[in-house]
Amino acid sequence: MIPRPFAEIASVGAAVPPRAVTNAELSRTLDTSDEWIVERTGIRERHVATAAQSVAMLAAEASRDAMDRAAIRAADIDAIVLGTASPDRLLPSTACDLQALLGAHNAAAFDVSAACPGYLYALTIAEGLIASGQSRTVLVVGAEKLSTITDWEDRSTAILFGDGAGASVVRRSTRAGRGILSTFIKSDGRLAELLYRPGGGSADPISERVVCSRNHYMKMAGREVFKAAVRTMAEACDEAIRRAGVRPDEIDLLVPHQANIRIIEATAKHAGMPLSKVMINVERYGNTSSASIPLALDQAVTDGRLRSGSLVLLVAFGAGFTWGSAVVRW
Ligand code: ACO
Repeated sequence: MIPRPFAEIASVGAAVPPRAVTNAELSRTLDTSDEWIVERTGIRERHVATAAQSVAMLAAEASRDAMDRAAIRAADIDAIVLGTASPDRLLPSTACDLQALLGAHNAAAFDVSAACPGYLYALTIAEGLIASGQSRTVLVVGAEKLSTITDWEDRSTAILFGDGAGASVVRRSTRAGRGILSTFIKSDGRLAELLYRPGGGSADPISERVVCSRNHYMKMAGREVFKAAVRTMAEACDEAIRRAGVRPDEIDLLVPHQANIRIIEATAKHAGMPLSKVMINVERYGNTSSASIPLALDQAVTDGRLRSGSLVLLVAFGAGFTWGSAVVRW
C-alpha cells in the first residue's frame, strides 16, 4: 500500500445566493422569534436562491473560484464528485449539469447522496480515485438548494436550512506530509425516518396526494436527530484522529458541519477543543447540508485561520443517518 497522503485539497471556493432571509423575516409568517431561533440554534440568517439559480449554477460559481485558485483549467478535471441532497433533477445527476456548465469534457461526473456529510463522502471517493491512479485531478463539490425541499409552513424545520455551494480541487499530493491524512465514513439506515422526504421518490412517486400532504418536503424528529448528531460527531472525531495517527491537541482548527451551535459546542467539548479553535459560521448561513463544510473551509482560508501546514479536523453528520470526518494537513 502507498503511504498517505495520496491526495491534497489544493484549493476551495464558495458561492451563496445574495438574498439573506433573517429570523425576523421568518417570524412574520411563522409562529417563532429571533430570540428562540438564536438561543436554540445560533442561526441569525440564511441565504435563499431565486427560482432562476440552480444547484448546478451555484456549484459552477464555487468551482470556478476553486479552479482559479488552484490554477487549473476545466480540461484538467478527471472527475467531478458532487454531494447534494437537493439535486436539480432526479435524472441525470447535478454533477453532469455542472460538467456541462464548466466545459469539463474530460471528466466522469456523478452525484453522491449522503446528505450533510456529502462533501466528506465525495472527498473520500476523490482520494480513492487518486490513490488508485484512476484520476489525477478531482473536483469535489457540496451544493444545495434546500429552500426547495423545506416546508416553509413548518417552524421546526424552516428556521434551520439555507442554500449555497462549496467546491475544492483535490489532486495528487505535491508536498511531503501535506494532504488528506485520514478519512472516516459511516451510516445507519435504521435511523432513516428521523430525517427524510417521505414522498416524491419511486416508493411514493410525485402525485397530487403527495403534494397536498406536503410529503415532498423534509420531515424531521429534531430532538432525536440532535442526540444522534452529538453521538456520531463524537465517534467521527475520534476515528479520524486515530486513523491519522495524530494527537487531539495537535489539531489547529476544527471545521464541523454547521447545523446548530449547540451540536458544534458539544462536538468541540468532546474533542477537547476550545471554541477559539472551531470554525463557526452557522449564524450567517444556517444548515447548508453538503455545502456546509466547504463554505466553512473557504471562510477559514479567507480569514487566515487555515494556512499552509495547519492540521484541520473536518466532521459532519446528516440524514441517513450518515456521518464522516477527515484530518487534513493543509
Ligand atoms: N420557534 C418557536 N418554538 C418552536 C420552534 C420554533 N421555530 N420549533 C419548535 N418549537 C417549539 C416546539 O413546538 C416545542 O414546544 P412544546 O414544548 O410546547 O412542545 C418547543 O419549541 C421545544 O421543541 P424541541 O423540538 O424540543 O426543541 P429543541 O430544543 O430540540 O430545538 C431543534 C429544536 C432546533 C430543531 C433541535 O432539536 C435541533 O437542532 N435538532 C437537530 C436538527 C438538525 O441538525 N437537523 C439537520 C440534520 S442534517 C441533514 O441531513 C440536513
